[in-house]
Amino acid sequence: MRELDDIDTVGIVGAGTMGHGIAQVAALDGYDVVLRDVEDELVESGLSGIHESLDRFVTRGDLSEAEADDARERVTGTTDLADLADADLVVEAIVEDMDVKQSVFADLDDTVAEDVVLATNTSTLSITSIASATDCPELVVGLHFMNPVPLMEGVEVVVGEKTDPAVASLAHDFAESLGKSTWESDDKPGFVTNRILMPWLAEGIRAYDEGVAEKPDIDRGMTLGTNVPMGPLELADHIGLDICLDAMETLHAELGDRYQPPYLLKRKVEAGDLGKKTGRGFYEYGD
Ligand code: NAI
Repeated sequence: MRELDDIDTVGIVGAGTMGHGIAQVAALDGYDVVLRDVEDELVESGLSGIHESLDRFVTRGDLSEAEADDARERVTGTTDLADLADADLVVEAIVEDMDVKQSVFADLDDTVAEDVVLATNTSTLSITSIASATDCPELVVGLHFMNPVPLMEGVEVVVGEKTDPAVASLAHDFAESLGKSTWESDDKPGFVTNRILMPWLAEGIRAYDEGVAEKPDIDRGMTLGTNVPMGPLELADHIGLDICLDAMETLHAELGDRYQPPYLLKRKVEAGDLGKKTGRGFYEYGD
């Protein structure tokens, strides 16, 4: 297995919200990054997301132009998985769908060198099931970054049934090399964070739907009343209502009725109102 010192190039599969965020922090911390998505315009959109975020850091004075330029130059976009052949570590951040993740992990297994750790950013899916699509389940680990990746300090390391302890240890070291702080969870549904967060979001949505309070009062009640930075409706919009629904459906299937997704959430997703990313969720957002 490759050690932290052997890691120069990080492959990232999926250039969406999480993938391009992970690419950005890896590039800023000196790794070369190959960022892969399925279509050119999705790759371009991920690269633009990185550039815009770096520009904001420069404008705020948190980064010099030279540091931002260096990070930009370290990220290469591609639609060809074969371009990840020289990666020393891979982080997958594609759609939260077991079949698609297993198919990508089977392909990655055939693409990268046999001692390369394959990490998944899944929010709720079983690391053990994802790993079962490969011939090297001991090299597969959960590396669950939080959104937005450049700003959130925490990373959850998730240990599958067959994950080698040395691989879990490398996952902690890699996340820490990006300036993150980690904790570890067993491969149980939702891990630590989403097992507890998703019912909190669901209850906020139900409280609104059942007329307990207006949306801003629910969010203010929770931020001011429990000292969290965002209330449940704001946070659901921020995460993406489709991502929340996928997570709740996985937890519901695994853990039973107490994790049933609210039907208002299902209706919003069916209507295409997915939160900030589509301009409308529980709240309306400008451009
Ligand atoms: P997203 O929908 O923004 O991006 C997913 C990207 O993966 C899309 O650009 C899509 O085209 C791409 N993709 C799909 N199949 C692919 C393939 N075979 N090869 C390469 N790219 C492919 O999703 P997001 O929000 O970035 O989520 C990604 C993962 O991170 C999911 O597993 C999600 O559960 C997890 N996650 C999401 C968080 C959030 O707040 N959005 C927080 C923590 C984890």
